[in-house]
Amino acid sequence: MDKKVTVVGAGNVGATVAQRLCEKALCDVVLVDIIEGVPQGKALDLTEAAPVEKHDAHIIGTNSYEDTKDSDIVVITAGVPRKPGMSRDDLLSINRKIISSVTEQVVKYSPNAILIVVSNPLDAMCHVAHDVSGFPRNRIIGMAGVLDSARFRSFISMELDVSVDNIHAFVLGGHGDSMVPLPRYSTVAGIPITELIPQERLDALVARTRDGGAEIVNFLKTGSAFYAPASSVAEMTESILKDRKKILPCAVYLAGEYGISNLFIGVPAKLGKNGMEKVIEIKLTSEEDAALKKSAAAVQELVDAMKNLA
Ligand code: APR
Repeated sequence: MDKKVTVVGAGNVGATVAQRLCEKALCDVVLVDIIEGVPQGKALDLTEAAPVEKHDAHIIGTNSYEDTKDSDIVVITAGVPRKPGMSRDDLLSINRKIISSVTEQVVKYSPNAILIVVSNPLDAMCHVAHDVSGFPRNRIIGMAGVLDSARFRSFISMELDVSVDNIHAFVLGGHGDSMVPLPRYSTVAGIPITELIPQERLDALVARTRDGGAEIVNFLKTGSAFYAPASSVAEMTESILKDRKKILPCAVYLAGEYGISNLFIGVPAKLGKNGMEKVIEIKLTSEEDAALKKSAAAVQELVDAMKNLA
C-alpha cells in the first residue's frame, strides 16, 4: 500500500483500529506498544486473517519507533483506560506522561505526520500532543465527536426504528460530561429530529449520549469502549488518506472560531489530505452557545490543571 499509518497502543482500541484500517485496505499499518510481544502477536494474527479477508495491507507489530518512520498518520491510543467509577478526568495525570513521551518518539521519526489523538481525557491529551510536537493545528485532530455522534445516531435509530443510514447527528464541545449534542442539527432523512421525537424522549437520548462511555464501562467493568471508537478513527483516517473532505465533528485547536481561542474542543471540521482543513462555523442559539462555552471552560480547567502537575 502506498500509505502508512502507525497506531500507538496495541490494546483494545489500537488493535481494533489496526483491524479496521487493514480490512478496508486503506494503508499499511504499524502497531506499536511498550509491552513486548503484544503488538507483534496481534499484527501476526491480523496478517494471518488477510487471505480470508482478502486484502493486501501489510501489518507489523513492534516496540521500536524506528519502524514507524515516515508514517502519513499516527493514531495515538496509548494510555490507561477508564475503570468503573473513574472519570475521564481522573486519567489526566497518568495519560499526560504517556502521551507526552509517545508524541516525542512519533514526531522524531514522522515529522510530517498527521496525529489523531484518541487517549482520554481527549481534549487535554490533544493539548499535550500539540505542545510536545510543535505541529501546526491542521495536523493534530482529536477523535471524540465522530464517536459521540455515532452513539447519538444509534440511539435515534433505536428510538424511531429507522435505518442508521438515514440519520445525521451533531455533537459539539468537549468529550466529557459537558458535551453538547445538537438536536436542531440532527436529522432523519433530512427531517430535524425535533419534529419526530418529543422533547422529553429527546432529552433522554441526549443524556444517554453524554453518558455513552460510562454506560459501556459499567458493563465491561475492566475496560472501556473500543469497537465504536475504532470505527470512528477509521472514518477520520479514510477521509484524510483519500482526501474525501468529509465534515466530521472532531476536537481541533480553535483560533477564534466560535469565540474560542487556544483550546482543543469538538466542532465540525473538514478532513482531507492536509488533515484538519477547515473549521465549519455554524450559528448557535444563545442556549447552545452557553453550553459550548461551559464545555470549553471544563476543558480549559483540565488544561490549567495539567500546568500544575509534576
Ligand atoms: N507507549 C506505547 N503504548 C503504551 C504506553 C506507551 N508509553 N503506555 C501504555 N501503552 C499501551 C498499553 O500497553 C496498552 O496495550 O496502551 C494500550 C492501551 O490499551 P487498553 O488498555 O486496551 O486501552 P484501550 O481500551 O485501547 O483505550 C486506550 O483510548 O478510548 C481511550 O480512554 C481510552 O485512553 C484510553 C485509550
